[in-house]
Amino acid sequence: MSVLGAGTVGSQVIRLLGERAEDFAQRSGARLVITGIGDRKSASEQPPFIDPALVTPDLESLVDGVDIVIELLGGIEPARGLVLRAMANGASVVTANKALLATHGPELFEAAARAGVDLYYEAAVAGAVPVVYALRESLAGDTVTRVLGIVNGTTNFILDEMATRGLSFADALADAQRLGYAEADPTADVDGLDAAAKAALLASLAFHTRVGITDVSVEGIRHVTQADIAQAAADGFALKLLAVCDRVGDDGVSVRVHPTLVPLAHPLATIHGPFNAVVVEAEAAGRLMFYGRGAGGAPAASAVLGDVVAAAAHRVHGGNAPRESAYAALRVLGPDDVRTAQSVRLRVADEVGVLAAVAGVYARNGVSIESVRQVPSDEDATITIVSHIARAGDLRRTVAELRETPVVREVVAVTAVEAG
Ligand code: HSE
Repeated sequence: MSVLGAGTVGSQVIRLLGERAEDFAQRSGARLVITGIGDRKSASEQPPFIDPALVTPDLESLVDGVDIVIELLGGIEPARGLVLRAMANGASVVTANKALLATHGPELFEAAARAGVDLYYEAAVAGAVPVVYALRESLAGDTVTRVLGIVNGTTNFILDEMATRGLSFADALADAQRLGYAEADPTADVDGLDAAAKAALLASLAFHTRVGITDVSVEGIRHVTQADIAQAAADGFALKLLAVCDRVGDDGVSVRVHPTLVPLAHPLATIHGPFNAVVVEAEAAGRLMFYGRGAGGAPAASAVLGDVVAAAAHRVHGGNAPRESAYAALRVLGPDDVRTAQSVRLRVADEVGVLAAVAGVYARNGVSIESVRQVPSDEDATITIVSHIARAGDLRRTVAELRETPVVREVVAVTAVEAG
């Protein structure tokens, strides 16, 4: 077995493989022996539990002649080429690489099937939280209608710091970087790309349909202000970056990632700090919730090692992991067709006919209004309108028309809303 990447996760995988060797041998039926570790750090920079003799920067040399390759490099290349070569050579692969799977999943799953090997990726979504297994195997006998979750710990930490400590986005991001949650380049987290890759994987599993990262409508949290968070709290909401995967009608799938107003009584509103939580709704099971650590070396290593034990057991006893299941081939809705409810906050002139004018814009664009609240202030008024669930394209046109409506002085905020 070889481990590609001995960083935060890889080093914990190696440590636990050493410390728990007897247990893993009992559980899988074979001793799990690391024959090579691919890492750019020199042997002397490695922690004491890593045997320097096993470490090499030559990754290619580690994917031939092994039973299992653990890929923890991240990124697309060289990970993609190495994983394909490992599988073609008969190795099962365990990876935490969400970007790779959400971009090249079909190619990789087909290669695994062709080679008759396992391709496991529990750690790619929500770290230690076993939601991949739950969707792929525990719920294979049910019909999933919705997956909704906080799948990026960094952004949840940032939004939570803004809510609980009154920090600005920039200060909360700086805290996240100081504590090691956010990378020096935080783009993938704060712009929602990490969550979008995970949403694609969750939707693919939940709906037995191929969903790639480019199918996901994404909005990050970079523009969220302290005022947005404070207003959300005053209105009885927490602002969370949610991944939302919905089955729409008989044949559609809507997958989106965006800041969302979540009612304070909703279970996802109570998820603090860098934790992850995923709610799954299925026809027979009803609502399920999975919660835990979505990032960090040891939690991700737990997920990786669960996959490693399963892959090793298959080597010993035969069998394979379930194959990719994409038979349903549902229609993945484009950015205008995904559906959400939306809150729009307007500053308007407080005069006759304003509400009628605003309501007219909604009606003309086919968007149904769920609630309207008006708060007077000086000569203006602030109106908050929450829509029913509507097509994103219709919601966009509504907001664009509101911006052009003379009585509307300012569109203050536009945010998706999750029902209770
Ligand atoms: N950067 C991710 C997060 C962890 O903040 O949740 C790895 O997926």
